[in-house]
Amino acid sequence: MISQPLLERIIREAGDIALTYFRDLKHLNVDKKSPRDFVTAADVAVEKFLQTKLSENYPQYGFWGEESGQSENQTNRWIVDPIDGTHSFSRGQYYWSISVALEIDGEIVFGAVYAPALDDYYCATKDEGAWRNGKPISVSDLDELGDAMIGTGFACLRSYLEQNNLERFCRIAQLTTGQRRLGSAAVDICLVADGQLDAFWEQELNLYDVAAGALIAKEAGATVTDFQGNAGIFPKQILVTNGKIFNQLLPLM
Ligand code: IPD
Ligand code: CA
Ligand code: CA
Repeated sequence: MISQPLLERIIREAGDIALTYFRDLKHLNVDKKSPRDFVTAADVAVEKFLQTKLSENYPQYGFWGEESGQSENQTNRWIVDPIDGTHSFSRGQYYWSISVALEIDGEIVFGAVYAPALDDYYCATKDEGAWRNGKPISVSDLDELGDAMIGTGFACLRSYLEQNNLERFCRIAQLTTGQRRLGSAAVDICLVADGQLDAFWEQELNLYDVAAGALIAKEAGATVTDFQGNAGIFPKQILVTNGKIFNQLLPLM
């Protein structure tokens, strides 16, 4: 069906394109899709490269990219965020990533999240485990919410939502030891998969932000639910935990 080594080569090459722009930020063209949502020449170049390469090698699959939209075949498709964490990218920070997922008949069967500035390549194929730079990864063993390090984001503020994440964050932050807002939901979810975070949640994301990371996290032993505890990938309300603190965290969502 797909070749993981070929996909890694393609995604790493896309990372090289992104790094070319990242190393010359003073000449980076940055536009606003909305007052708090950015797109750069790097996003567009990376997405165009991925669409070309994935379509050449896998013409049977459609393509949905954050910046270019959906192709006609949307049953079996690549779901791509060319740069997740564009705001961080545009300011020279390291937490940004390229997220590529393959959806077949409504199920995510392959996911890769590559963070070029960190040189971390996370990937998973359904039922075949999760990997970081070729080594198997798994969620943390931490089982006390009070000792947890959690991650979150504030896409909701980008949409000026009244029902946003601020009250939830303050409630949970007071009951945990560490809190991180690193700037790339795709990387945040992979950090749960890799045991670097014990949980992550965010509202108002899109499928291209979370599809690849959610598969990687599930294959690493994470729970992936909505804020009511329903299992599945719900970009508007995604909660990813190491499983051990799920029952302590869910009532606080
Ligand atoms: C953003 C990042 C960020 C999250 C935002 C997303 P983008 O992706 O994932 O962590 O909080 O809501 O939109 O817009 O840079 O691709
Ligand atoms: Ca994104
Ligand atoms: Ca993006």
